[in-house]
Amino acid sequence: MLIALGVSGGIAAYKACEIVRGLDRAGSAVQVILTRNAERFVTPLTLQTLSRRKVLLDPFDLSSPETVRHIDLAREIAALVVAPATANVLAKLARGIADDLLSTFYLAVTAPVVVAPAMNARMWLHPATQESLATLRARGVAVVDPAVGWLAEGESGPGRLAEPDAIVAAALAAARRSRELEGKTLVVTAGPTREPVDPVRFLSNRSSGRMGYALAAAAARRGARVVLVSGPVDLPPPFGVEVVRVRTAEEMRVAVHEARAGAHALLMAAAVADFAARPAESKIKKSGRGISLALEPTRDILAEVGRDKGDLLLVGFAAETEDVVERARGKLRSKSLDFVVANEVSADGKGIESERNAVTILDRDGGAVEVPEASKAEVAERILDRVFGAEARP
Ligand code: CTP
Repeated sequence: MLIALGVSGGIAAYKACEIVRGLDRAGSAVQVILTRNAERFVTPLTLQTLSRRKVLLDPFDLSSPETVRHIDLAREIAALVVAPATANVLAKLARGIADDLLSTFYLAVTAPVVVAPAMNARMWLHPATQESLATLRARGVAVVDPAVGWLAEGESGPGRLAEPDAIVAAALAAARRSRELEGKTLVVTAGPTREPVDPVRFLSNRSSGRMGYALAAAAARRGARVVLVSGPVDLPPPFGVEVVRVRTAEEMRVAVHEARAGAHALLMAAAVADFAARPAESKIKKSGRGISLALEPTRDILAEVGRDKGDLLLVGFAAETEDVVERARGKLRSKSLDFVVANEVSADGKGIESERNAVTILDRDGGAVEVPEASKAEVAERILDRVFGAEARP
């Protein structure tokens, strides 16, 4: 196992030595990448001696074949941990600025990323830094929060690098996860469907697609091949995921049946329309009177797959406004699911259309795991832990 350790320039850079030793003792090879500023706090020779590997340094020269090889290395690592991560590096990673080796390397990494910030307390509390962290968290980056304590500047506050042991543990957990779903294909659905009424109108729902996109991204970070069957949403395709775009429930049904061949699991996070109209061929004109739309039920994709699921692991989602757990259990049974992820959608600010969610994961044996409110990226990690954790972990 190979873990990359990015070290940026802060007084805590010397603690990178302890992190290298911890990872080495746990049996992981470590590829250190030092930023130019970090070199002023800790020598490449020290880290090279501890890691027994050539430390990668700037100057950053994209025309050099060696730099390109370093970028190739980004695909081989099991995790990237940046410790200490300065406010500057966090901002660069959050925005995708690639002006040195570490920040460029980050953009080529598909494996899980962990950052351990360290800085002055006021810099830590600044909205700019907190915004960078929120962006990284939403992208699935794990943050090892700094401790409160005396800082180098002689004042106390949050900003001191977390203990090396905690950073090593987070890096190892991330690296273990990165191989967890290797060799498996997951089909994930996301977003609403659009059922046309006429050439310019449609029926749809408020689903943003964020939960499904977060699940697809998290599964790809764990090494799975992911096919994301996506309804119309306004989200960028997740890194390393194959996206199949559909509009209607019927198109989604066809795409899911196609993608499920050879797949290990289907996670149906999409909010599929339950009813569809027979669309008019030309635009319906107003006449001053009301109109009635005849709606037909759509076919239930999950229930269909559930009837002939074989070894496919089936995960459904249930958005409910009342009797959440009871109703979700009903769906688990009636659609032959292995898990159902239930969430309440009546509370403001979570669930549908939101960046955050809180769910209960129910299984066939009557078990229930509560996931408290968190970003959808974090909730996605917990769902994968629950659904694949039991079979994939020793
Ligand atoms: N689902 C599906 N095909 C449909 C409708 C829903 O596969 N035509 C899936 C959703 O992706 C989700 C689960 O079924 O995983 C939700 O169950 P569903 O019974 O549709 O929930 P509701 O629409 O909320 O059902 P009800 O109106 O009965 O509460």
